[in-house]
Formats: sequence, C-alpha cells, structure tokens
Amino acid sequence: MSDPAPDALPTVVRQDGLPEHVTIYEVGPRDGLQNEAALVPVGVKAEFVQRLLAAGLPVVEATSFVHPKWVPQLADAAELMGLLGEAGRDCPVLVPNERGLDRALELGCRHVAIFGSATETFAQKNLNRSLDEQFAMFEPTVRRARDAGLDVRAYVSMCFGDPWEGGVPIEQVVSVGRRLFDLGASQLSLGDTIGVGTTGHVTALVEAFTAAGMGVDQLAMHFHDTYGQALANTHAALQAGITTYDASAGGLGGCPYAKSATGNLATEDLVWMLTGLGIEHGVDLGQVVSTSVWMARQLGRPSPSAVVRALAESTA
Ligand code: HMG
Ligand code: MG
Repeated sequence: MSDPAPDALPTVVRQDGLPEHVTIYEVGPRDGLQNEAALVPVGVKAEFVQRLLAAGLPVVEATSFVHPKWVPQLADAAELMGLLGEAGRDCPVLVPNERGLDRALELGCRHVAIFGSATETFAQKNLNRSLDEQFAMFEPTVRRARDAGLDVRAYVSMCFGDPWEGGVPIEQVVSVGRRLFDLGASQLSLGDTIGVGTTGHVTALVEAFTAAGMGVDQLAMHFHDTYGQALANTHAALQAGITTYDASAGGLGGCPYAKSATGNLATEDLVWMLTGLGIEHGVDLGQVVSTSVWMARQLGRPSPSAVVRALAESTA
C-alpha cells in the first residue's frame, strides 16, 4: 500500500439529534492482533499502540491476559506491557478470570475488561464455561479488581446472532448484559461478534437496555464489519444516543473462537463518518491511516478498511 494522502477530509454537515462528542475505544492491538495468523513481534505491537495513542485515540486496548495456549498471538502480554511502561498502565487489558487479573495487577494495569457471552455455545467455546458458570468466574475477578481500585469494562458477545445458535433473543442479551454490568463494571460493550446485526436490531437492543434501567452513557457498541453493516449500525446507535464506539485501526480483527468473525469496524471509516457529521472525536485521521498502512506492510496484506484504501490509493 502506498503512503496516504495527508489532508483528505469529508465536508462537515451536522445532523440534528446526534451526540456532539464520541469516544473511540481502539481495539486493534487486542481484537485485531489476537486473530492474525502470523505472530507479530512484540516491538511492532508496542509501536502500534504508541502510534495509536499519538494519533489521539483516547483509549487503546493493548492486549489480553488470557491462557497463552488459547490465544498464542497475545502470549507476550507481559512483555508488551513492560515495553509500554507508564503509558501502558492506562491501556485496558482483557482478563477472563482471577489468574488473568493477578497477571494484570502485577504489572500495574489500571483498566481491565471481562468478556462474557450472551449464548451458551460461545460461553463454552470461548471461556470453557457454561453460560451460568461464566458469572462464577467473573464475580471474584471483578470484585478483586474493584477492591484494588481498577476500572472494569464488561463485554457481552453474540448480541446480534451466534454462528452455532442462530438468532439470539433480545431479552437473553439484556439479561446477561445487565448481570455482567451489575458485577461492578463502569461500561458494558455490546458485541456484534460476527457482524450480522442491522440497524433496526441495534435500535431495538439499545431501547431494551435502557428499558432495563441502563443509561446510554453506560453502553458502548462493538461492531464487527463482516456483513458491511458496521457503519450503518453505528449511525443507528448514534441516533439512539450512544457515545462510545469500539473500532480497530485498519479494520483488523476477529475472534479466534467465533467462526465467521472478521475485522472490527475500521477506526478510519468511523473517523471519516464522525468528522463528516461534525461529531468531535479528537483523532487525527492521517496519523491513523499512516499507522494502518505501516501495519499492513508488517502483516504483508492490505487493510480491509475502505477509507484506508481510498486515502492510500489517492496518492498512488
Ligand atoms: P481453562 O482451560 O478452563 O482454565 O480456560 P482453567 O481455569 O481450568 O485453568 C487451567 C490452567 O490454565 C491452569 O494452569 C491455570 O493456571 C491456567 P495449571 O494449573 O493447569 O498449570 N490459566 C491461565 N494462565 C494464564 N492466564 C490466564 C489463565 N487462566 C487459567 N488468564 C480460560 C479458561 C478463560 C482461561 C480460557 O478459556 C481462555 O483463556 N479463554 C480466552 C479466549 C479469548 O481470549 N477469546 C478472545 C477474546 S473475546 C472476543 O474477542 C470478543 C470481544 O471482542 C467482543 C465481541 O466481539 O463480541 C471481546
Ligand atoms: Mg470483538
């Protein structure tokens, strides 16, 4: 891929009823790299995180303290956190259980995320636990994290469909999501792990969570772009008042334990749309594109992001 055009930006036209400001929660180094066939050297990962922070991304999820046999791509989590130093302590890390939390605490991490499943099958495949057993694993993990003064995010996966079970009832997603959040999380991220959701479904799910007593400020959306719906779904969520969106630079990503999960919503695609809508996000698009072009070279394949391709090709 060629180097990107430096100053391309969309014309700004605001739309009534949308938030003024959005927080982009960058998951490329974790959700992106956990799914790469190639093992990325730890020094490249550290540079990736540093470049994303330098581009103005307010939150960069760095890695996971999961079992290294389950996700060998992130087996270097401790080494990465060592390379990142003080700045890394503010980067959230995934912890599935107390063992993962102990590893994160030893390194001074200040933000951890647990990740539950809305479906029985994915709980088994991703966590080696039943739907009910996952709460027994998370409960002491969150309690101890909170006692140690850490901030905890909770993810819930398969909110819009599951590759083994098909459709997932909204009531089931709300029930699992609320239970995870109520363990002591500050935010609940609703994952469309396999990217099958569509706009009406997004609106209905957010409405169901707010009807169950959650505020839109406590929810985040985590769209994968498998079926090309991620930006449309983001727009539906903006209309519903959600102000935190997970995205990955260059559209890297997937989930090693969910067949048919491809990349996350690309950070650049999200930034382009938010910029055009006049929604503040604080991110330098050119710097993220350059970072994704650099990362694509490291991985030996082009970025799937439409915005990265358009900007990189416009100078070719
Ligand atoms: P398990 O095999 O059931 O673990 O795995 P266990 O509790 O039975 O322990 C077995 C051994 O593993 C023990 O060692 C533990 O100490 C060790 P032994 O005593 O036999 O020597 N162990 C660990 N070692 C290091 N770090 C740990 C750890 N835990 C136990 N944290 C476990 C259960 C949850 C650990 C495993 O299933 C696992 O690691 N799963 C992670 C899968 C994963 O990372 N998936 C991707 C992230 S989720 C995602 O991508 C979705 C998301 O993006 C949102 C969306 O898109 O929807 C977040
Ligand atoms: Mg994901």
